[in-house]
Amino acid sequence: METLGIDVGGSGIKGAPVDFEAGDFAADRIRIPTPQPATPQAVAEVVAEIVKAFPKTKRIGFGLPAIIRRQTALTAANIDDSWIGTDAAALFREATGMQCAVINDADAAGLAEMEYGAARGLDGTVVLLTLGTGIGSALFHNGQLFPNSEFGHLELKGGPAEKHAAASVREEEDLSWEEWAKRLNRYLKALERIIAPDHIIIGGGISKKHKIFFPLLKTRASLLPAELLNRAGIVGAALATKHPPV
Ligand code: BGC
Repeated sequence: METLGIDVGGSGIKGAPVDFEAGDFAADRIRIPTPQPATPQAVAEVVAEIVKAFPKTKRIGFGLPAIIRRQTALTAANIDDSWIGTDAAALFREATGMQCAVINDADAAGLAEMEYGAARGLDGTVVLLTLGTGIGSALFHNGQLFPNSEFGHLELKGGPAEKHAAASVREEEDLSWEEWAKRLNRYLKALERIIAPDHIIIGGGISKKHKIFFPLLKTRASLLPAELLNRAGIVGAALATKHPPV
C-alpha cells in the first residue's frame, strides 16, 4: 500500500510516494505550479492530477502553509484566503477518493527530520525553522510534536519576524550574509527568550548554504542544519497519515 506525500506551496505543488523504511521518495517527485488564485478547488484539481501519476496510491498526507486544527485550515499563507475554514482532509478525500491527512507544512518537515534526519534521537526541546518565503516552525519536546507553533509570526521590529528575517527577505532586500545573519540572530535571540530550546534545526532551501552563515549565528542552543533538504516536506506530509496531530 503506497502512501503519497504532497507539499502544497505558494509556487509549486509537489508530490511523491514515500518509502517509510528508507525515509525517502519511492519514485521521482512530480511538481506542478500552484494555480493562481490557489483556491481549495483549484489546488484539489492539481492534487487529483498528481495522484493519477501514482496509481498504487492508497492514502495521502498533505503539508499546507496554514494552521491546521482538526484537519481544517485556520489561516492561509501564500495560498488563497478562501482556505480559511476549509476542511482540507474532506476536500482532498472528495477529489481523490483516498484516505487523506493534513498537517502544517513546517510541522511536516519537522516530523521528517525527527524520524529520519537532523533531529533523530534528540531529547528535550527541539525547534525546526524552515527559512524560505516565510518562516515556518515545528516544536518538539522529547520527540513529541506540539503542532502549529507558528514562530515565524513572533513580533520583531514592529511586524511578523518572517517579514524581517526569512530567506526571501535576504534576496528581496539584497542583504549581505552578514546583514541577514544580524537579523536572524535578533530573531533567534527572541525565540530563545521565550522557549529556551536545546536544539535549533535550520531547514528550507537556504540550509544547503549553512557553511556560509552558521559561523555568523550566535545561539545558546545547539544549531544544526536540516538533513532532508527538499525531501522533508513531502516525507513529513506522508508521515502525517500515520499520526496526524489533532
Ligand atoms: C505560515 C506557516 C507556514 C510557514 C512556511 C508562514 O507564513 O504562517 O503556517 O508553516 O509560513 O510555509
